[in-house]
Amino acid sequence: MKIGIDQISFATSNLYIDMAELANARKEAPGKYLIGIGQKKMAVLPPTQDSVTLAANAADQLLTPTNREQIDTILFASESGVDQSKSGAVYLQSLLNLPTHVRAVEIKQACYSATAALQLARGYIALHPDKKVLITASDIARYGLHTAGEPTQGGGAIAMIISRSPRILAIDDDSAVYTENIMDFWRPNYATEALVNGHYSGHMYVDFFNDVFSTYRKQTGLTLDQFAALAFHLPYTKMGFKALKSVLPQGKPETQQRLAANFAASHQYNQVVGNLYTGSLYLSLLSLLENATDLKAGDRIGLFSYGSGAVSEFYSGVLQAGFQTMLHTKQQHTKLTQRQKVSILAYEKLFQYQLPRDGSTIDLDTTQDPAKFVLAGIKAHQRQYQQH
Ligand code: CAA
Repeated sequence: MKIGIDQISFATSNLYIDMAELANARKEAPGKYLIGIGQKKMAVLPPTQDSVTLAANAADQLLTPTNREQIDTILFASESGVDQSKSGAVYLQSLLNLPTHVRAVEIKQACYSATAALQLARGYIALHPDKKVLITASDIARYGLHTAGEPTQGGGAIAMIISRSPRILAIDDDSAVYTENIMDFWRPNYATEALVNGHYSGHMYVDFFNDVFSTYRKQTGLTLDQFAALAFHLPYTKMGFKALKSVLPQGKPETQQRLAANFAASHQYNQVVGNLYTGSLYLSLLSLLENATDLKAGDRIGLFSYGSGAVSEFYSGVLQAGFQTMLHTKQQHTKLTQRQKVSILAYEKLFQYQLPRDGSTIDLDTTQDPAKFVLAGIKAHQRQYQQH
């Protein structure tokens, strides 16, 4: 039985900043952000968007009367959770009006958890072939103003429906995983921004990739030449490029050309949105599917997932006949180009705004946020979500 990604969608905020403007404001050469780090624009998140609303705005695009009845599990992958106890998935069940006979949980391991969710969903569908699993991967990446990590922030959500007979990507059974306790990126409970050893995390990411990719190759006997494309966890595009570069010499010249061209397609969206943490790999996959020119049914795509701390996995999937009809490329491009640019000053103000941390009541102005699902405030320690 084939099991894999049947549907996929994406949501981010309607605001962004231009990375050349951020570089100028930080007295850095624009080339450092645009080429050295590889980012052109960065999503800016208003207080009315959080990991729950972003996930709801992404998942809402996938739901139909039929799949609503088949989804019996929601896996909410995030490292920007809004509660230490209650899962974001429970909020999703009600916001999306999903049946109450659904199990709803949150799953965490830095940027890796959506991949864990996907692998768990595959096992679950194997036992319950008539069911579907909704996975959301939503985050707001925050390193802080004037920090080295600032140009690698961003935010948004990916939603996917995992089922048998998937119409986009059938996931292969083989995969290679590697876990090691390292301190490259973490966020203690008392911190609103991540702590990161940036250069160290970059090195570990490439090392982990080489480890799981070579294990995977040994396990399967597949060579680099047998991949139409590789999709990477992309907190910023240069990171994935370094991993790709480290294995390109293993392939024939035409493979090297194909993988490089498809890598360019796979970072188009990430380059103008920024870091999605858990969703970054799957935004890169979506960008690849919607922007590559030569992909066809039967092509094998390799996926590298990395979550600091650190857990990594390499696995692959095969494109299914008619996968193009499941994509909404034109609408995606329109949504991304119609976002509103904000000044660096406006971004700094939005970034510094914090919801009360003492439980006091707050009403947020939701009139400026065109998203369907918004956070309208906090009352009696409870988040107030609204549907426009
Ligand atoms: N023109 C072109 N390129 C230039 C340039 C110019 N004018 N000036 C500098 N550059 C290049 C540099 O040569 C360098 O390129 P290489 O990496 O190829 O050497 C690049 O621009 C960046 O320059 P620096 O290394 O000097 O930049 P920096 O010290 O300010 O830090 C960074 C860059 C390490 C990426 C930093 O932004 C950072 O720490 N970001 C966060 C990293 C991160 O997200 N880590 C976790 C990844 S995994 C994850 O997503 C976490 C998770 O699981 C949740």
